Amino acid sequence: MKKDLFGKALLDYQNGNYSEDIITSTNISDEDALPLPYLFRAFSEMPKLEQKALKLAKGSVLDVGCGSGSHSLWLQNKALKVKAIDSSEGAVEVAKMRGVLNVELKPLLEETETFDTILLLMNGTGIFQELKDVGNYLKHLKLLLNPEGQILIDSSDISYMYEDDDGGMWLDLNQGYPGELDYFLSYKGEKEAPMKWLYLDFETLKTACLTVGLKCEKVMDGEHFDYLARLY
Ligand SMILES: C[S@@+](CC[C@H](N)C(=O)[O-])C[C@H]1O[C@@H](n2cnc3c(N)ncnc32)[C@H](O)[C@@H]1O
Repeated sequence: MKKDLFGKALLDYQNGNYSEDIITSTNISDEDALPLPYLFRAFSEMPKLEQKALKLAKGSVLDVGCGSGSHSLWLQNKALKVKAIDSSEGAVEVAKMRGVLNVELKPLLEETETFDTILLLMNGTGIFQELKDVGNYLKHLKLLLNPEGQILIDSSDISYMYEDDDGGMWLDLNQGYPGELDYFLSYKGEKEAPMKWLYLDFETLKTACLTVGLKCEKVMDGEHFDYLARLY
């Protein structure tokens, strides 16, 4: 049962009750803090990849997994027509409080409107969860595109996380695709139900796009094995 600790953390920060960060870990990495202020970042604090994605956005925009709404707010201020969706109640509440005009509590697969630009940012492929579901999500995203529409999505090639000190890899080939992680989140001593979170390297994303008839081009590389892709 999901507790929406992510949403609770966003609500605490928004309401001035910031005392702790979210703690995340995965099946292949130790605990790491996810600083709450980062989830409320201004344009100038965003990674270059995200800034680029926002600058490429045009027409009507769907911000998928909007979180606190940082990307939507910037676009709205640039007079673009934005709809933001998130599956976290807390996130939707916070995005509304921050001024995002059109926000809905809705998982991506339940969205039915069409858009000129669809944004999935901060490891946008995470929402697909598992490699076997990527085709379904991409097919659905394609249905939500207007003619000449585009999907802007970021992710990372995380194979560096499997490197050991002497440059070898400790990858277990029986484990499946290395970007498929079990993701654990805790906040203020409470544990969220474990989730799946998917990182896709560019070539795998490109191949998956081919299978559903989407073109996939790399817009730019980020600073740490990450990249921004444009699907159309
Ligand atoms: C890593 S956060 C990124 C938030 C925001 N885009 C940002 O960059 O700050 C991922 C967000 O996606 C939302 N999410 C996860 N699965 C989703 C789904 N299937 N449909 C819509 N939102 C989803 C989560 O609730 C969370 O707010």
